[in-house]
Amino acid sequence: MTNSLTGRAEPMLATSQRAAPPVQPQEAMRLVRGAFATDVVAGLSAREKTLPAKYFYDADGSELFEAICRTPEYYPTRVETALLQRVAPQIAADIPEGAVLVEFGSGASAKTRVILDAAPQIVAYVPIDISEDALEKAAAAVSRDYPKVRVVPIADDFTGAIRLPAAARGRFKIGFFPGSTIGNFTHTEALRFLGSAKQLLGDDSVLLIGADLVKDETTLVAAYDDVEGITARFNKNLLTRINRELSGDFDLEAFDHLAFWNAELTRMEMHLVSRANQIVNADRHTFAFKAGERLHTENSRKFTTESFAELAARSGWSVTREWISPAPQFAIFSLTPEGSNPFHVNRRKN
Ligand code: TRP
Repeated sequence: MTNSLTGRAEPMLATSQRAAPPVQPQEAMRLVRGAFATDVVAGLSAREKTLPAKYFYDADGSELFEAICRTPEYYPTRVETALLQRVAPQIAADIPEGAVLVEFGSGASAKTRVILDAAPQIVAYVPIDISEDALEKAAAAVSRDYPKVRVVPIADDFTGAIRLPAAARGRFKIGFFPGSTIGNFTHTEALRFLGSAKQLLGDDSVLLIGADLVKDETTLVAAYDDVEGITARFNKNLLTRINRELSGDFDLEAFDHLAFWNAELTRMEMHLVSRANQIVNADRHTFAFKAGERLHTENSRKFTTESFAELAARSGWSVTREWISPAPQFAIFSLTPEGSNPFHVNRRKN
């Protein structure tokens, strides 16, 4: 059973076991807004101010992100797409007939098409995304362009408890997690995600992950601070969203976008820096910013093939194949559940 608003698949319980009646749409909307308010107030109250990155992706944020992907500096999207195009036939060769493609954080589903084109044996596509607007648009477009593929979108935070639709039951699953979104997690969050993905996809599966690799600082910093200032607008959109949804009074001109390479933690960091001492109100709370104080909005961890393999191994997966692009280097890893027979995939074909 699927919740009508969040799209979250609810566990099938006998009526007597149900703790509460199903959540109504207005109530679900209130809960979602409540979570945003709670997270914003907690993040702005912390000694080192921070906001969870998932809130970047409202309708405007999703569009700004698509615009970032078109800037000359932001290489990951272009490089990963070209790499996928090159290796898609190899990926497709390991996919059995009747498989289901499950994508975590599907956005505009652009890279998905590369997989669907190369693997016509895929019968269903389950895109999962927190941005309902982006998801609905993308799902409708894929449905139109691939009439043989059953598209079952799930509008939800993919780090939460997700249940796959009945259409996926008993079928081989291909998990797809491109865009180096794995790098936006902390180490602990990444382990938790990979662990729950393994449970969700089951033993008869493969998980394809796109991950950006450590490289020279100049290339990295430029990618997160384009000259046109689109990344800065994307970063500040979080403040616009607080102003709109939580009656905030952030002055966008009073904050600067900051992106820098943290060599010790091998990650790009994004912050918003207060230009002056100022007081900001949001959700009936008051927050003081000192001049130069940072609000930490995002991390983008960069990997080596070794650090990635270790992360996979710690969460019950093993990297069975990896492909790396020419510089600027980006990697696609193919993971299979630890302990499963890696040859059964090919045997199942035909
Ligand atoms: N996962 C991508 C990355 O880390 C996308 C992303 C997340 C991003 N936040 C961003 C890109 C902020 C640019 C700016 O690169």
